[in-house]
Amino acid sequence: MNRAELCEKTKRRFERVFGHSPERVVFAPGRSNLIGEHTDYNDGHVLPVAIDRFTAAAVSNRSDRRVRFHTANLNQAFEFNLDKPPDSRPGWVSYMMGVIVEMEEEGYQLSGKEIAVFGTVPLGSGLSSSAALEVATATAIERIEGLDVEDDRLVSVCRRADHRFVGIKSGPMDQFASRACRAGHAGLLDCRTLKMTQHPLPDRIRLLSIYSGIPRALADSEYNERQASCQEAVRICRKIEPDVEALRDVSPEILQSAETRMEPRIFRRARHVVTEQTRVFALIEAMAATDLNTIGQILLAGHRSLDEDYEVSLPLLNEMVERLQKEQGVVGTRLTGAGFGGSLICLIEENVCDVERTTERFKETFQGRTPEPVQIWELTTVDGAAFQADGEI
Ligand code: GLA
Repeated sequence: MNRAELCEKTKRRFERVFGHSPERVVFAPGRSNLIGEHTDYNDGHVLPVAIDRFTAAAVSNRSDRRVRFHTANLNQAFEFNLDKPPDSRPGWVSYMMGVIVEMEEEGYQLSGKEIAVFGTVPLGSGLSSSAALEVATATAIERIEGLDVEDDRLVSVCRRADHRFVGIKSGPMDQFASRACRAGHAGLLDCRTLKMTQHPLPDRIRLLSIYSGIPRALADSEYNERQASCQEAVRICRKIEPDVEALRDVSPEILQSAETRMEPRIFRRARHVVTEQTRVFALIEAMAATDLNTIGQILLAGHRSLDEDYEVSLPLLNEMVERLQKEQGVVGTRLTGAGFGGSLICLIEENVCDVERTTERFKETFQGRTPEPVQIWELTTVDGAAFQADGEI
């Protein structure tokens, strides 16, 4: 479904549910990540792209303080008063309610709203459908209220929604990518300063997004556990170098000196983050030089580190990566997102990789071996929500 069709469907749904036309329709994309996995909550760097799958939010103002939400994907509705947000609510409402409540917490005085959302980012596939939902909600409120919210501020609002309303201590990558990436580029985000710089994707490279068919089941509890391990590693490294505030500040040398003081598991977690940081900058250099060989090696090293040191991969995901590496024109592949299922990102060389045949062979190999069907598409990078014009009303 393209953006115009998505806009039309969301608008129609809004009209049916609320009985009048929306005032605006905004769009927030999902994301994939080239490299920099599990570095964002360690104040490190990440290199995501915004992808051609969106959450659209149609919105109108109310004169009172009532908020009415509707999701077309689940065909569900929810209503509450902004002065008394209820404690008990369905999962999808937590993201949207979290955003609107945290916008007020940030100092914006809001009136009530009617918002209908419809998304094409596949749910639970590791492509940040939830970040797209949060950023779409925040951007809809921003535009209809005539606010001009800076990207880092809007992303902080969305993260607080995650932390306080959803219960996941996510880093800033997903929301920042959904909000601020640019088409044709990967955005290098410094997760400490929340500044993003854009890096063009090499002309000869195309991107495949591969949904493994394994929904990210364990991800939430394991995710919070990995964060706790990183904090433990920081605590130990600080005994050697007191200026260390996060794993971002830990050099390979500091980590080596700290090794004997750490449990092997904690050391491996920290080693993933420290080496992943160097891979982010190495990939930027290799992309600027269109050095396909090096690009491939970096992606594969990133995947192995996620598997062996961070332990967020699965045997079947490893097999998928290996399978793809054998295909002609595949530059490199790795798991993207939190792990334990979800999606792979695969960089291919234009006109060398036969996408159709690669897809066919891949699907054949894994048919019947995954809980859900595998899905592959050649993705187009798009602009983040901040740069997406409103849909025609
Ligand atoms: C999830 C989180 C992100 C990031 C990735 C791992 O997508 O939401 O903040 O930590 O996992 O890189």
